[in-house]
Amino acid sequence: MSQDHESLENLLSEDRTFPASAQFAAAANAQPDLYARAEKDRLAFWDEQAKSLQWDTPWNKTLDWQPPYAKWFIGGKLNASVNALDRHVSEGRGSRVAFHFEGEPGDTRTITYAELLTDVKKTANALIELGVKAGDRVAIYMPMIPEAAVAMLACARMGAPHSVVFGGFSADALLSRIQDADAKIVITADGGFRKGAAFALKPAVDEALKGKHNVEKVLVVQRTKQETAWTERDVWWHEIVGRQSSEHVAESFDSEHPLFILYTSGTTAKPKGIFHTTGGYLTQVAYTHKMVFDIKPETDVYWCTADVGWVTGHSYIVYGPLINGATQVMYEGTPDTPHKGRIFELIAKYGVTILYTAPTLIRTWMKWGDEFPQAHDLSSLRLLGSVGEPINPEAWMWYREVIGGNRCPIVDTWWQTETGAIMISPLPGVTATKPGSAMTALPGISAKVVDDNAVPVGKGHGGYLILDQPWPSMLRGIWGENERYKETYWSRFEGIYFAGDGAKLDNDGAIWLLGRVDDVMNVSGHRISTTEVESALVSHEAVAEAAVVGAADAMTGQGIVAFVILRGGIEHADGEELNKALRNHVTKEIGAIAKPRQILIVNELPKTRSGKIMRRLLKDVAENRVVGDATTLADPNVMKLISEGLQSAKSED
Ligand code: PRX
Repeated sequence: MSQDHESLENLLSEDRTFPASAQFAAAANAQPDLYARAEKDRLAFWDEQAKSLQWDTPWNKTLDWQPPYAKWFIGGKLNASVNALDRHVSEGRGSRVAFHFEGEPGDTRTITYAELLTDVKKTANALIELGVKAGDRVAIYMPMIPEAAVAMLACARMGAPHSVVFGGFSADALLSRIQDADAKIVITADGGFRKGAAFALKPAVDEALKGKHNVEKVLVVQRTKQETAWTERDVWWHEIVGRQSSEHVAESFDSEHPLFILYTSGTTAKPKGIFHTTGGYLTQVAYTHKMVFDIKPETDVYWCTADVGWVTGHSYIVYGPLINGATQVMYEGTPDTPHKGRIFELIAKYGVTILYTAPTLIRTWMKWGDEFPQAHDLSSLRLLGSVGEPINPEAWMWYREVIGGNRCPIVDTWWQTETGAIMISPLPGVTATKPGSAMTALPGISAKVVDDNAVPVGKGHGGYLILDQPWPSMLRGIWGENERYKETYWSRFEGIYFAGDGAKLDNDGAIWLLGRVDDVMNVSGHRISTTEVESALVSHEAVAEAAVVGAADAMTGQGIVAFVILRGGIEHADGEELNKALRNHVTKEIGAIAKPRQILIVNELPKTRSGKIMRRLLKDVAENRVVGDATTLADPNVMKLISEGLQSAKSED
């Protein structure tokens, strides 16, 4: 760890600060007393937040904490979909727009809360007809279309936990997630539109279901109208949903009833099924959405550019914003189709006031040039958010100046699939922000930076980010893997949640996130485990051994670099061809997001005497640095051999 510590300590100092305008501060949802109120009585504070939801039965105990297992709002009963939809309609907000949907080809749909509720009720009835009951798991594998949100809310309405699998994952990745959660139904689409063309999704479902599973039905939304193979278990969404009644009385579920499972990469090859329950999760997503994004549902137009396949889409497109009655933009496609100003054009078209996006997209916009945002009227924007990876001060400043016209506060929000909701972030109107810092834990949350012995570090020092108090939206476990849950999050520091991130406290006590300290990479804000990519590589017939590292990448944060030893008899000469084959193989095994940027074919890998691969040294090579201390290597010559024997082949795409 000494090496890591050095880099943690060795950080830039940034002393620019940006307080919000007095006008913003005066009207902000969050006022400075929020911190003191939470500090005074944390549980009473969360009780107060939970009361903003509609409960059918009130809870009788706020928290039951048996580390590492928490239960929140015990005895309470509620329905997630009622909170997101019925409540608005019955209180007279049914005609408010929930989604302005924009398809990539330019087709649009305006969906009000009343219409969304009807769609969700009909879909719930369709799921009942297909045999889904409370507690059954439903896999959702969809493009970014309104039906994805409808499907999630219909599952929630029936108490059937959903497991959304990002549409960019491969058939193999889908199958392993279907198996792990033992899904009964898969909801998908024929395909979607991306980069100016239709892509297919249904064939990946068909391919996945050639494996072992207990899936009884596949419900298929017709999005692209492309030719689609059909089997007996397939049902068209428009046929079955179309003929359902629009009446559906929602049942109340226990506060701790599972709401969803969402798979995320860990340090092993097998993804972890992070599972969340209802009352605590909804409380914290609604609270954070209201305070961090300062949402004023009557006037704001909010746009989170995430995909529903990631936790950001769950918490800040589906549950948080809908509970708060927000009007949102939902966009199906990529930011460069049909032109590089697409996002800005849509901001102007819909009068977006709050934009929540990822540093990787901000850096891409910087690269494309200021002329794209400048060609559109972005004056409606009043607040900007960032999530998924550390945002470098340069990108932060560009976001502020070019997108936000120097008038919008920026909220850099730190959280994880596991935390369910935002944990560390400025409060707009309260916090004077610093470019590149997520600042401090939100009211109600306790985060610390500690050393190897769990002792909090002083100001100006670096260490590990931990969360030392339970929070309402925390994961309740890893689906079916209790031991792994304890081992992964609660064993590094006994009884304390270790997030896997390094962080530094600056001289004012603000938190600066420094990225992962484990074997997890962050590529364009997406978590990918080094081991997962390694095991995909070694499953190729040409590969004997593989080591993968995340190397710094100016655009995507990190890029995947793989070092591969070939099996005997495989010719090195066809490196180019083989390189391509290996990269395609990873795409097939996991998905395009895990495709290595670079594959280096080597004869040896640096290992310690106990056989552990020293990724740190490989990272030095991948980042073109002088290779660090190699004295603990079993064979100290190995790094020399690697450097000499490199047959690097850069990717073409
Ligand atoms: O390393 C941190 C990084 O993303 C990880 C969580 O990834 P995931 O579960 O996929 O959720 C992403 C969206 C919430 C964290 O462990 N991360 C997330 N937000 C930030 C961040 N790193 C720095 N700054 C952030 N704002």
